[in-house]
Amino acid sequence: MRYFWSLFFIGVGLWGAQAVQVGEKYNDSGKCKACHSPIVKQWEDSWHAKSHYDNDEYFQKTIDYVARKNNRKSLNTIKIECAACHNPRISVTSTNAEYEALAALKADKDSAATKALQSDTISEGINCVVCHNIDQIHDSLPDSKRGIHRVSWMKSGVMSGPYADAKSPYHKVEPRDFMDTNPNQLCFVCHANDQSEEGHRFTNMQAEFKSGGKQCVDCHMGPRKQGVAATLRLANGQAHTRMVRSHGFVGAHSETMWQGALKVDARKGAQTLEVILSNPQPHALPSGFGSREILIEASYMSGAKVIKTEALSLTSKYLSKRDKPTIPHLADKTLSNISIPAQGSKTFSLPMAAGANSVNIVVSYRLVNDEVRGLLELKDPIWSKKMVIKKLSLKL
Ligand code: HEC
Ligand code: HEC
Ligand code: HEC
Ligand code: HEC
Ligand code: HEC
Repeated sequence: MRYFWSLFFIGVGLWGAQAVQVGEKYNDSGKCKACHSPIVKQWEDSWHAKSHYDNDEYFQKTIDYVARKNNRKSLNTIKIECAACHNPRISVTSTNAEYEALAALKADKDSAATKALQSDTISEGINCVVCHNIDQIHDSLPDSKRGIHRVSWMKSGVMSGPYADAKSPYHKVEPRDFMDTNPNQLCFVCHANDQSEEGHRFTNMQAEFKSGGKQCVDCHMGPRKQGVAATLRLANGQAHTRMVRSHGFVGAHSETMWQGALKVDARKGAQTLEVILSNPQPHALPSGFGSREILIEASYMSGAKVIKTEALSLTSKYLSKRDKPTIPHLADKTLSNISIPAQGSKTFSLPMAAGANSVNIVVSYRLVNDEVRGLLELKDPIWSKKMVIKKLSLKL
């Protein structure tokens, strides 16, 4: 029997993901507000809520750039590929040669693919009915099958959640382990690995993960606290008290999460300044999406005067098939990767300044390194903002 099912699921993998329509009553977070308004507000501030093409400049310009550099695939085909994780409720999960021919002639306006990309159902990105409508996660599939290609959905109107005894007048509920005891399985549907158009794997969070007993949700949704899952009052006039987490999914875009994310030490070497970065987190830093950057900046002082500055950028650099600098999604190889491994540490050396009697060191993080910011012409200041991890002073 088990053999039969694994064959069946490999079959699903080969034949493409099965899209299931989301009913009007459930397709956007506004429909949940009446009873889950605190959760909806937390989620709205998260980057899961910004994962659609229209709402994240970096994502949008990456897609446009990939489409410009690729003459075999149309913009819409790239958008559909990326939707697997960024917009998994899309109703079309792949395109074919016939569609490419139509797109090349700009005659695809009425096609299912174009309509699927314009649908309101996907405009919120990773919303409630992405995570809470998942029925099963098929970990027996090859590890390159991610997002929509790795899950099957419940019927519209059924919500998977952590509680076995929940009752709601608006929707049916079904408890699932990946909402309770095994939430990493849910996060790894998308935060596992990703590869470029050339098949180069530029991020592999699942492989580098060293749990140390903590789950993703412990840090990115915060600990379970007493609260309410639904604000709806029961017959006794009170809402049901529950243990709940925050839906903030705070991460790389939030300065507060970076404070102290790495341990920083410094010492004077023979001719150098040595900066030791230790990473207590269960995944590498920088991690996740490529082109993230950690900066070490040193200001050498003589008394109160800065006499020299030195900087070191820890980031990944990517080369295209033609050995030109490129973005992760077009990379043929990674030229260098100097992130700090999970629960590991690395020492970096900076040149010393003659005549300095102290040094001020700032370690910070940037979402996009100079190279990729330049290639994509990113405008929003968030991409170049330095978020401080730690400041340190050392007598020399
Ligand atoms: C009319 C009120 C109402 C609306 C609207 C509503 N819910 Fe609920 N929901 C509830 C109640 C009540 C519970 C049970 C709470 C409890 O038992 O603590 C619940 C529970 C849940 C749970 C937890 C289920 C479990 O088994 O752990 C999820 C997930 C959920 N709702 C998602 C949603 C989503 C997504 C929407 C919008 C599409 C939505 N709800 C709209 C009332 C509502
Ligand atoms: C990225 C996945 C994800 C998204 C998106 C998401 N949730 Fe959740 N949700 C979870 C996880 C994981 C839990 C279980 C948290 C825990 O351990 O208690 C949860 C728990 C809940 C619960 C039970 C209360 C609790 O904190 O355990 C409700 C109700 C709920 N979610 C509603 C919503 C609504 C409404 C939205 C949209 C605004 C939403 N969720 C979006 C992953 C998600
Ligand atoms: C359906 C795919 C999917 C699932 C499931 C998912 N994520 Fe995400 N997550 C994404 C994508 C895509 C982004 C990037 C969105 C963007 O920046 O536009 C993201 C971003 C994030 C970020 C970064 C936020 C920031 O400010 O940089 C964190 C943290 C995160 N997710 C945590 C989680 C956790 C924890 C879970 C499991 C409970 C989870 N995600 C489940 C796809 C997913
Ligand atoms: C012990 C706490 C902890 C756990 C557990 C944890 N993280 Fe993180 N994570 C952090 C910290 C701290 C950062 C760095 C600050 C930030 O980006 O929020 C981070 C960063 C991230 C980022 C942004 C990386 C980037 O530079 O783009 C993502 C995405 C992420 N984590 C996802 C996950 C996922 C998925 C899991 C589970 C497999 C997980 N984290 C487990 C603490 C944790
Ligand atoms: C396997 C799932 C998956 C696929 C497929 C995918 N992504 Fe992502 N993407 C993610 C996750 C998860 C994150 C968040 C990681 C992090 O913050 O470290 C992310 C983050 C990003 C970011 C950074 C956004 C930000 O706000 O910092 C960009 C840009 C991006 N993806 C572009 C793309 C493009 C373009 C495609 C299609 C060619 C694509 N992605 C396909 C999972 C995926």
